[in-house]
Amino acid sequence: MNRIVCRDADAVAEAAADRIVAAVRADPGLSLCLPTGRTPLAVYRRLIADCRAGKVSFAQAAIFILDEYVGLGAGDPGGFATYIAEALLDHVDADRGRCFAPDGKAGDMAAEAARYEGLIAAYGGIDLMVLGVGRNGHIGFNEPGSPRGSRTRVIALAPDTLVANAADWPAGRTPPDRAITIGLGTIMDARRILVIAHGATKAEPLGALFRGGLVEDWPVAVLRDHPDVTVLCDPVAVGEA
Ligand code: GLP
Repeated sequence: MNRIVCRDADAVAEAAADRIVAAVRADPGLSLCLPTGRTPLAVYRRLIADCRAGKVSFAQAAIFILDEYVGLGAGDPGGFATYIAEALLDHVDADRGRCFAPDGKAGDMAAEAARYEGLIAAYGGIDLMVLGVGRNGHIGFNEPGSPRGSRTRVIALAPDTLVANAADWPAGRTPPDRAITIGLGTIMDARRILVIAHGATKAEPLGALFRGGLVEDWPVAVLRDHPDVTVLCDPVAVGEA
Protein backbone atom coordinates (compact mmCIF):
# COMPACT_ATOMS: atom_id res chain seq x y z
CA MET A 1 0.00 0.00 0.00
CA ASN A 2 1.28 3.43 -1.00
CA ARG A 3 0.54 6.05 1.65
CA ILE A 4 1.11 9.66 0.58
CA VAL A 5 0.69 12.35 3.23
CA CYS A 6 -0.08 15.60 1.41
CA ARG A 7 0.39 19.09 2.84
CA ASP A 8 -3.35 19.73 3.33
CA ALA A 9 -6.82 18.95 1.97
CA ASP A 10 -6.23 20.98 -1.18
CA ALA A 11 -3.04 19.06 -1.88
CA VAL A 12 -4.96 15.78 -1.44
CA ALA A 13 -7.50 16.94 -4.02
CA GLU A 14 -4.79 18.08 -6.42
CA ALA A 15 -2.87 14.81 -6.12
CA ALA A 16 -6.05 12.80 -6.64
CA ALA A 17 -7.12 14.81 -9.68
CA ASP A 18 -3.64 14.49 -11.17
CA ARG A 19 -3.74 10.70 -10.79
CA ILE A 20 -7.22 10.42 -12.28
CA VAL A 21 -6.25 12.64 -15.23
CA ALA A 22 -3.09 10.59 -15.80
CA ALA A 23 -5.09 7.35 -15.75
CA VAL A 24 -7.69 8.68 -18.23
CA ARG A 25 -5.00 10.07 -20.54
CA ALA A 26 -3.20 6.72 -20.46
CA ASP A 27 -6.40 4.79 -21.18
CA PRO A 28 -9.23 7.06 -22.41
CA GLY A 29 -11.71 4.19 -22.45
CA LEU A 30 -11.05 3.11 -18.88
CA SER A 31 -13.75 2.23 -16.35
CA LEU A 32 -13.79 4.61 -13.43
CA CYS A 33 -15.79 4.27 -10.20
CA LEU A 34 -16.22 7.46 -8.19
CA PRO A 35 -17.30 8.30 -4.63
CA THR A 36 -19.75 10.84 -3.31
CA GLY A 37 -19.58 12.94 -0.14
CA ARG A 38 -17.65 16.11 0.63
CA THR A 39 -14.07 14.92 0.18
CA PRO A 40 -14.26 14.34 -3.60
CA LEU A 41 -15.87 17.73 -4.39
CA ALA A 42 -12.50 19.53 -4.61
CA VAL A 43 -11.20 16.71 -6.81
CA TYR A 44 -14.14 17.08 -9.19
CA ARG A 45 -13.64 20.85 -9.39
CA ARG A 46 -10.09 20.19 -10.56
CA LEU A 47 -11.21 17.55 -13.07
CA ILE A 48 -13.69 20.04 -14.52
CA ALA A 49 -10.97 22.67 -14.84
CA ASP A 50 -8.59 20.15 -16.44
CA CYS A 51 -11.28 19.04 -18.90
CA ARG A 52 -12.14 22.63 -19.82
CA ALA A 53 -8.42 23.34 -20.31
CA GLY A 54 -8.23 20.43 -22.74
CA LYS A 55 -5.91 18.44 -20.48
CA VAL A 56 -8.25 15.41 -20.30
CA SER A 57 -11.33 14.02 -22.04
CA PHE A 58 -13.85 11.73 -20.37
CA ALA A 59 -15.72 11.12 -23.64
CA GLN A 60 -14.67 7.47 -23.92
CA ALA A 61 -14.57 6.62 -20.24
CA ALA A 62 -17.16 4.47 -18.48
CA ILE A 63 -18.06 6.14 -15.20
CA PHE A 64 -19.77 4.40 -12.29
CA ILE A 65 -20.62 5.59 -8.80
CA LEU A 66 -20.35 3.50 -5.66
CA ASP A 67 -23.80 3.79 -4.18
CA GLU A 68 -27.27 5.35 -4.07
CA TYR A 69 -29.95 5.76 -1.45
CA VAL A 70 -32.89 3.33 -1.67
CA GLY A 71 -35.92 5.30 -2.86
CA LEU A 72 -33.90 7.81 -4.86
CA GLY A 73 -32.86 7.74 -8.49
CA ALA A 74 -31.65 9.97 -11.32
CA GLY A 75 -32.63 13.60 -10.82
CA ASP A 76 -33.81 13.20 -7.23
CA PRO A 77 -32.50 15.91 -4.90
CA GLY A 78 -30.21 14.35 -2.29
CA GLY A 79 -29.56 11.31 -4.44
CA PHE A 80 -26.04 10.36 -5.47
CA ALA A 81 -26.86 10.17 -9.19
CA THR A 82 -27.87 13.83 -8.89
CA TYR A 83 -24.76 14.55 -6.81
CA ILE A 84 -22.33 13.20 -9.43
CA ALA A 85 -24.20 14.93 -12.26
CA GLU A 86 -24.06 18.29 -10.49
CA ALA A 87 -20.53 17.86 -9.11
CA LEU A 88 -18.91 16.49 -12.27
CA LEU A 89 -20.80 14.96 -15.20
CA ASP A 90 -22.78 18.08 -16.17
CA HIS A 91 -19.49 19.97 -16.53
CA VAL A 92 -17.22 17.59 -18.44
CA ASP A 93 -17.42 15.81 -21.80
CA ALA A 94 -18.48 12.46 -20.36
CA ASP A 95 -20.73 10.35 -22.60
CA ARG A 96 -23.84 10.01 -20.43
CA GLY A 97 -24.60 6.72 -22.18
CA ARG A 98 -21.47 5.40 -20.46
CA CYS A 99 -22.25 6.88 -17.03
CA PHE A 100 -24.04 4.63 -14.55
CA ALA A 101 -25.53 4.71 -11.06
CA PRO A 102 -27.52 2.17 -9.10
CA ASP A 103 -31.24 2.95 -9.35
CA GLY A 104 -32.55 3.32 -5.82
CA LYS A 105 -36.09 3.44 -7.22
CA ALA A 106 -35.98 0.06 -8.94
CA GLY A 107 -38.95 -2.14 -8.13
CA ASP A 108 -36.77 -5.21 -7.56
CA MET A 109 -33.61 -4.19 -5.72
CA ALA A 110 -32.02 -7.63 -5.96
CA ALA A 111 -32.46 -7.49 -9.74
CA GLU A 112 -31.09 -3.94 -9.76
CA ALA A 113 -28.04 -5.06 -7.81
CA ALA A 114 -27.46 -7.84 -10.33
CA ARG A 115 -27.98 -5.39 -13.20
CA TYR A 116 -25.33 -3.06 -11.78
CA GLU A 117 -22.82 -5.85 -11.26
CA GLY A 118 -23.55 -6.95 -14.83
CA LEU A 119 -22.87 -3.45 -16.14
CA ILE A 120 -19.53 -3.31 -14.35
CA ALA A 121 -18.62 -6.71 -15.80
CA ALA A 122 -19.82 -5.69 -19.28
CA TYR A 123 -17.33 -2.79 -19.21
CA GLY A 124 -14.49 -5.09 -18.21
CA GLY A 125 -14.53 -4.39 -14.48
CA ILE A 126 -13.26 -1.23 -12.80
CA ASP A 127 -9.81 0.01 -13.83
CA LEU A 128 -9.60 2.82 -11.26
CA MET A 129 -11.71 2.78 -8.08
CA VAL A 130 -11.67 6.09 -6.21
CA LEU A 131 -12.86 5.82 -2.61
CA GLY A 132 -13.61 8.15 0.24
CA VAL A 133 -13.83 6.76 3.76
CA GLY A 134 -16.71 7.09 6.15
CA ARG A 135 -16.01 8.04 9.77
CA ASN A 136 -16.87 4.48 10.82
CA GLY A 137 -14.56 3.05 8.17
CA HIS A 138 -17.20 2.35 5.55
CA ILE A 139 -16.24 2.42 1.87
CA GLY A 140 -19.09 3.03 -0.49
CA PHE A 141 -21.88 2.17 1.90
CA ASN A 142 -20.28 -1.04 3.11
CA GLU A 143 -20.89 -0.58 6.79
CA PRO A 144 -19.06 -2.44 9.58
CA GLY A 145 -19.99 -6.12 9.39
CA SER A 146 -20.03 -6.15 5.58
CA PRO A 147 -18.67 -9.48 4.29
CA ARG A 148 -15.29 -9.33 2.48
CA GLY A 149 -16.70 -10.95 -0.64
CA SER A 150 -19.89 -8.91 -0.74
CA ARG A 151 -21.31 -7.74 -4.07
CA THR A 152 -23.71 -4.96 -4.95
CA ARG A 153 -26.67 -5.12 -2.54
CA VAL A 154 -29.03 -3.17 -0.35
CA ILE A 155 -27.74 -2.38 3.12
CA ALA A 156 -29.09 -0.66 6.23
CA LEU A 157 -27.11 2.45 7.06
CA ALA A 158 -25.42 2.55 10.44
CA PRO A 159 -26.76 5.11 12.92
CA ASP A 160 -23.56 7.17 12.86
CA THR A 161 -23.66 7.19 9.06
CA LEU A 162 -27.21 8.52 9.16
CA VAL A 163 -26.09 11.31 11.47
CA ALA A 164 -23.01 12.13 9.36
CA ASN A 165 -24.93 12.15 6.08
CA ALA A 166 -27.93 14.04 7.42
CA ALA A 167 -25.62 17.07 7.63
CA ASP A 168 -25.52 17.14 3.83
CA TRP A 169 -29.29 17.13 3.45
CA PRO A 170 -31.62 20.12 3.12
CA ALA A 171 -32.93 21.31 6.48
CA GLY A 172 -35.97 19.40 7.57
CA ARG A 173 -35.27 16.45 5.30
CA THR A 174 -33.63 13.25 6.46
CA PRO A 175 -31.77 10.79 4.21
CA PRO A 176 -33.17 7.31 3.64
CA ASP A 177 -31.92 4.68 6.09
CA ARG A 178 -31.06 2.15 3.38
CA ALA A 179 -28.79 2.28 0.36
CA ILE A 180 -27.67 0.13 -2.54
CA THR A 181 -23.89 -0.12 -2.64
CA ILE A 182 -21.30 -1.98 -4.59
CA GLY A 183 -19.77 -4.58 -2.30
CA LEU A 184 -16.33 -5.05 -0.77
CA GLY A 185 -15.72 -7.87 -3.24
CA THR A 186 -16.67 -5.59 -6.12
CA ILE A 187 -14.29 -2.94 -4.78
CA MET A 188 -11.46 -5.43 -4.33
CA ASP A 189 -11.89 -6.62 -7.93
CA ALA A 190 -10.85 -3.17 -9.18
CA ARG A 191 -7.42 -3.14 -10.77
CA ARG A 192 -6.28 0.05 -9.00
CA ILE A 193 -7.65 1.79 -5.91
CA LEU A 194 -7.14 5.42 -4.90
CA VAL A 195 -8.31 6.45 -1.43
CA ILE A 196 -8.82 10.12 -0.52
CA ALA A 197 -9.28 11.20 3.08
CA HIS A 198 -8.46 14.21 5.19
CA GLY A 199 -9.38 15.67 8.55
CA ALA A 200 -9.50 14.43 12.10
CA THR A 201 -12.66 12.32 11.58
CA LYS A 202 -10.71 10.04 9.22
CA ALA A 203 -7.78 9.41 11.57
CA GLU A 204 -9.43 6.42 13.26
CA PRO A 205 -10.55 4.60 10.08
CA LEU A 206 -7.22 5.28 8.36
CA GLY A 207 -5.45 4.05 11.50
CA ALA A 208 -7.40 0.81 11.19
CA LEU A 209 -6.34 0.57 7.54
CA PHE A 210 -2.66 1.23 8.17
CA ARG A 211 -2.38 -0.80 11.36
CA GLY A 212 -4.49 -3.77 10.32
CA GLY A 213 -7.80 -3.30 12.05
CA LEU A 214 -10.46 -5.99 11.74
CA VAL A 215 -12.42 -5.72 8.49
CA GLU A 216 -15.50 -6.69 10.48
CA ASP A 217 -15.12 -3.45 12.45
CA TRP A 218 -13.42 -1.28 9.81
CA PRO A 219 -14.40 -2.24 6.25
CA VAL A 220 -11.71 0.06 4.80
CA ALA A 221 -9.13 -2.33 6.32
CA VAL A 222 -10.01 -4.84 3.59
CA LEU A 223 -7.85 -2.74 1.26
CA ARG A 224 -4.72 -4.06 2.98
CA ASP A 225 -5.16 -7.19 0.87
CA HIS A 226 -5.34 -5.33 -2.45
CA PRO A 227 -2.17 -5.25 -4.60
CA ASP A 228 -2.47 -1.66 -5.86
CA VAL A 229 -3.79 0.86 -3.33
CA THR A 230 -2.68 4.48 -2.98
CA VAL A 231 -3.93 6.48 0.00
CA LEU A 232 -3.84 10.27 -0.30
CA CYS A 233 -4.35 11.93 3.06
CA ASP A 234 -3.36 14.99 5.09
CA PRO A 235 -1.27 15.06 8.28
CA VAL A 236 -4.38 15.40 10.47
CA ALA A 237 -5.88 12.22 9.07
CA VAL A 238 -2.76 10.27 10.04
CA GLY A 239 -2.33 11.92 13.40
CA GLU A 240 0.84 13.72 12.35
CA ALA A 241 -0.40 17.29 12.75
C1 GLP B 1 -20.79 8.56 2.25
C2 GLP B 1 -20.50 7.84 0.94
C3 GLP B 1 -19.09 7.32 0.88
C4 GLP B 1 -18.14 8.43 1.31
C5 GLP B 1 -18.42 8.79 2.75
C6 GLP B 1 -17.45 9.85 3.29
O1 GLP B 1 -21.22 7.65 3.19
N1 GLP B 1 -21.41 6.71 0.73
O2 GLP B 1 -18.80 6.89 -0.45
O3 GLP B 1 -16.79 8.02 1.15
O4 GLP B 1 -19.76 9.28 2.85
O5 GLP B 1 -17.90 11.09 2.85
P1 GLP B 1 -17.07 12.45 3.13
O6 GLP B 1 -16.05 12.50 2.05
O7 GLP B 1 -18.10 13.52 3.05
O8 GLP B 1 -16.45 12.32 4.52
